[in-house]
Amino acid sequence: MRLDKYVTYAGLTRSEASSAIRSGRVAVNDTIIKNPAEKVESNVTLDGNVIDGSEYIYLLLNKPSGYVCENNRPDSVFGLVPEKYSHRKLSVCGRLDKDTEGFLLITDDGDFVHRIISPAKHLPKTYLVRSANPLSDSDITKLKSGIVIADNERCKPCECVRADNPNEYLLTITEGMYHQIKRMLNAVGNEVVYLKRIKTGGLSLPEGLKTGEILRLSDGDVLRIFTP
Ligand code: URA
Repeated sequence: MRLDKYVTYAGLTRSEASSAIRSGRVAVNDTIIKNPAEKVESNVTLDGNVIDGSEYIYLLLNKPSGYVCENNRPDSVFGLVPEKYSHRKLSVCGRLDKDTEGFLLITDDGDFVHRIISPAKHLPKTYLVRSANPLSDSDITKLKSGIVIADNERCKPCECVRADNPNEYLLTITEGMYHQIKRMLNAVGNEVVYLKRIKTGGLSLPEGLKTGEILRLSDGDVLRIFTP
């Protein structure tokens, strides 16, 4: 990659990167390089600080309740993202409601966002659901077979199993309609009182990732998402 492109990963525009390079602020393997067109792979510093040269980053937030997925709001999940990523154009992959917790991917890779949220990709997303009242076997059968949640809105068949605690269920859906899980429960005359996404594709929310914490995913983690 060209050096000036690499230096933009530090949050500079291309022309700011070029002038930083020309003025001797950039080193490659500890040697100052003043040619913006130099080809580089890694070990680049700006003012002595190592630049993270990853083209894209993939973050996993254990979303707390009370945060929204929209940007530019005081209660935005983006406020939980470390400052060092603030120059990246980040978006969430599949919104969660303000009161929903759990697995939320945040990235600057637009193709990846598409692969996660596109209904055509059928990527399973599993939620831990606590309902106001118990679900009967017949409710579970209705949910599993693809329930109608509004005129012309029928959910695809999904998985629904009882979890360990009373009134708790694991629901796995392969689409992401607006308030889908809440509306599915409403459609069987019930109500969601707690909702947490715990898995996307083959990647589960790590047990050690506390509410509000962010994990930068490795290439292996990203691959695991697509190998359920
Ligand atoms: N379904 C919902 O109803 N809410 C969410 O946040 C996610 C899925």
